[in-house]
Amino acid sequence: MTENILIAIAWPYANAEIHVGNITGSHLSGDIIARYHRLKGRNVAMVSGTDSHGTPVTLRAEDEGSTPEKVYKRFHEGFLELFQQMGISYDMFTSTHTENHFKVAQSIFLALKENGHLYAKKSMQWFSPEANRFLPDRYVEGICYICGEPGARSDQCDSCGNVLEPAKLIDPKAKTGDVLELRETEHFYLDLSKLEPKVATFLRERSAHMRDTVLGESLGKIEVEGLLPRPITRDLDWGIPVPVEGWDGKCLYVWFEAVIGYLSAPIELSQINGTPDAWQDWWTDPDARQFHFIGKDNIFFHTALWPAELMGAGTEFMKIFTGEEKLLTLPYDVPANQFMNLEGQKISGSKNWAVWGRDALTRYDPDALRYYLTVNMPETKDSDWDWEFFVAHNNNELVANWGNLANRVLSFCYKHWEGHIPVVDTVSLRPADLELLAAIEAGFSSVGDLLEAVKIRAALNEAMRLATEVNKYLDTSAPWKELKVDRDEAAKSVYTALKAIDSLKTIFSPFLPFTSEKLHATFGYKTPLFGKQFVKTVEDNLGSHTALCYQGVEGEQWKPSNLQPGAAFNQPSPLFKKLDQEIVEEERARLG
Ligand code: MF3
Ligand code: ZN
Repeated sequence: MTENILIAIAWPYANAEIHVGNITGSHLSGDIIARYHRLKGRNVAMVSGTDSHGTPVTLRAEDEGSTPEKVYKRFHEGFLELFQQMGISYDMFTSTHTENHFKVAQSIFLALKENGHLYAKKSMQWFSPEANRFLPDRYVEGICYICGEPGARSDQCDSCGNVLEPAKLIDPKAKTGDVLELRETEHFYLDLSKLEPKVATFLRERSAHMRDTVLGESLGKIEVEGLLPRPITRDLDWGIPVPVEGWDGKCLYVWFEAVIGYLSAPIELSQINGTPDAWQDWWTDPDARQFHFIGKDNIFFHTALWPAELMGAGTEFMKIFTGEEKLLTLPYDVPANQFMNLEGQKISGSKNWAVWGRDALTRYDPDALRYYLTVNMPETKDSDWDWEFFVAHNNNELVANWGNLANRVLSFCYKHWEGHIPVVDTVSLRPADLELLAAIEAGFSSVGDLLEAVKIRAALNEAMRLATEVNKYLDTSAPWKELKVDRDEAAKSVYTALKAIDSLKTIFSPFLPFTSEKLHATFGYKTPLFGKQFVKTVEDNLGSHTALCYQGVEGEQWKPSNLQPGAAFNQPSPLFKKLDQEIVEEERARLG
């Protein structure tokens, strides 16, 4: 049976462009793993969408004198463009502002309520008499009464990570400049303390394959502090209405509903494909493996809040939604990344200390960016984007080790064997030829095992090491010299090297899809390695939205070269560009 793999990637807020830190943190890491599993012939859904609700978006709209709807749509379109150019191959990149997502999120809410995990409670909230409304979350900032740091939001402190009681905030100030007053309001709370034992068990069961950094943030914290009930509704009018009578003017808390996107996006995907039940492959198969690609600031929401919502909903969600009483599958792994800094400083959009994805793509090829973002992925600790190293990694590894290898051997063969793979009797291959082919073949397991375990940097290093092996082999066998003495011997070397390069192309392809696909076509294969991305417009009762989709290729392709002696191939051209040292200063001058 084919394995079902859900690649679930954090939903970017629609209040800022995506920068290199976001790309390496979740979109690219998820894409590499999704592409790998697709090559293995597995049933993959890679999903995410624009997080279009919540105060990040409403505040941005107010700053611009615009509406949240306009703001979220503008950023959403930019995201779709970036993902296509960067080859981030979402099967479904939608938005939280869809009829489908509203329905799924409200059903999870009702399932939790039905199962007794929600309770309503009155509390004091900051209110603006001038605007005649409550000012939740990021609208009010002050000094944290727990750690004493400034810049704490009324509901949460990013410095110490604690949930705050708005009324206790020291020296609260409204971002809008409004005068503040405390007023009573009522909200629904998710009783996380009751669900805590289940969440802890869930995490312990996964501790063998979860990253230590993730377990420390989740299980570690639960063991020390425990989980507390959290309010999951807000006094806001932009968002998903609370599906309870008499709760007009209140919406589901953005984090409560955005994580539900991991469930609603596959449902939308199934609807678009005309196979309305297909989402159950990823959601009701207990053996489906779900991976969550996120940044470290999102760990709590994915290791505690989201599993608690799923376990709390129990079989009730399916009962409400389809009539069948089935449990929903729980996440398998949450390979959260640390942060990527830029030239030694924290990335900051407002200070223009950032490398923006779409902007960088106007000057550099996607695979060059993907390569540096992968060798530098902040898997276990924070990393740093340094333009000097961008150039060095590109020129010394991508171009010198891999790109030149492929281009040199293909060009040599194209010229001296007139565009055909040399005709070689494979039983005549020499020990060194067989040794190299065996080493490369072993790469499918060594790189594959690392990708199964989401050790992406190590996997790419291993692939590069294999390219080095081919270069060493060529240094010794030197077909350019052999050719002058013995054409048959040279043919064996060229044949062996081409087989190795063809295999390496597949091994590199999850990381470098554009250039691998190009090389694949040069070798003359008719079926591509990967499918195609396309944008779909969907109409529903909230209006219309666009979704980025992906039409895949059937079958298993993660296997050694099938290149046949004597086969024709196409004229090769270089895969990568050497970068000029001058760009380092040019790029640094753009910052700040
Ligand atoms: N929008 C959040 C952020 O950018 C991430 C949401 S992840 C989700 O930090 F799963 F909740 F959607
Ligand atoms: Zn604090």
